[in-house]
Amino acid sequence: EQAKLEARFQQMVDDDIKIEPQDWMPDAYRKTLVRQMSQHAHSEVIGMQPEGNWLTRAPSLRRKVILLAKIQDEGGHGLYIYSAAETLGTSREDMCKALRDGKAKYSSIFNYPALTWADIGTIGWLVDGAAITNQVALSKGSYGPYCRAMIRICKEESFHQRQGYELLLSLSKGTAEQKAMLQDSVNRFWWPSLMMFGPNDADSPHSAQSMKWKIKKKSNDQLRQEFIDATVPQAEFLGITLPDPDLKWNEERGHYDYGEIDWEEFAHVIKGNGPCNKQRAAAYIKAHEDGTWVREAANAYAAKHAAQAAE
Ligand code: ACO
Repeated sequence: EQAKLEARFQQMVDDDIKIEPQDWMPDAYRKTLVRQMSQHAHSEVIGMQPEGNWLTRAPSLRRKVILLAKIQDEGGHGLYIYSAAETLGTSREDMCKALRDGKAKYSSIFNYPALTWADIGTIGWLVDGAAITNQVALSKGSYGPYCRAMIRICKEESFHQRQGYELLLSLSKGTAEQKAMLQDSVNRFWWPSLMMFGPNDADSPHSAQSMKWKIKKKSNDQLRQEFIDATVPQAEFLGITLPDPDLKWNEERGHYDYGEIDWEEFAHVIKGNGPCNKQRAAAYIKAHEDGTWVREAANAYAAKHAAQAAE
């Protein structure tokens, strides 16, 4: 019976029929989705921190409005993805508790600081650019609720990527100091952005199974290459240098070759020892604790009204 169910499930996946919450699915498929979707949602939420840090220092009202809207979008993305993950039978409360308890992962990239105003542009251009590359592929995956969340998220991410690039374009036409700030920012964010795609395919424990289930439609290395190929011409247009001496067009492959990623740094950040891991966790926990009175008040209000309705 189990084998029959599994075969039928895999047939649906192979035929590109979306799996919906009420459909039978293997436990491991459900578990993998909850793992990936909760990490994804947490990344959106933690990702608000490096940028939130710059809201009070945005150089104009226009920039402030754009940044505020973008950060709110990221919070919203977290909520869509938590909701999509809840359809798999896990509660948002449990997922968030796992993050507070330090048991849940989120993307390595958000453990790097936003040190200058140029970083706000670079995060939009490179970090959101990398995120879209990945998320467009995810939107074509097998689990209906996750894919549908991705469609809207990609549209919003596209605005985020453009606002970042437009900000950098202004800096690229500015003073020598502004140009230097832009170059320094890209120097710091280039490699961590490439790490967002995860380990090389050969070192990625989940990839083969996730590709078979079409949770992932493209591999980590495929997506990384796609991102690099799309980004190099944009860097040239900005008049900046990407910090990789091995980066060059390979006519034969029809792709850019690039240098080796520092996987030691990647492992270090994932283990909790990146530049801002502790700060991010502490800010997340503090926000939860500061919100205690709001949750208590909402619960008291709900209980009062429930009691009145019962009278
Ligand atoms: N940061 C933190 N952890 C990572 C990263 C990264 N950049 N890349 C891989 N990992 C983790 C995986 O989560 C996995 O950990 P686990 O086994 O403890 O769960 C482990 O490293 C092994 O990696 P893979 O086998 O390659 O894992 P997976 O198949 O899940 O692929 C990937 C990783 C590509 C990140 C995938 O999970 C994914 O597409 N996630 C959804 C997108 C996402 O989370 N984006 C977040 C940044 S975008 C944004 O928020 C704006």
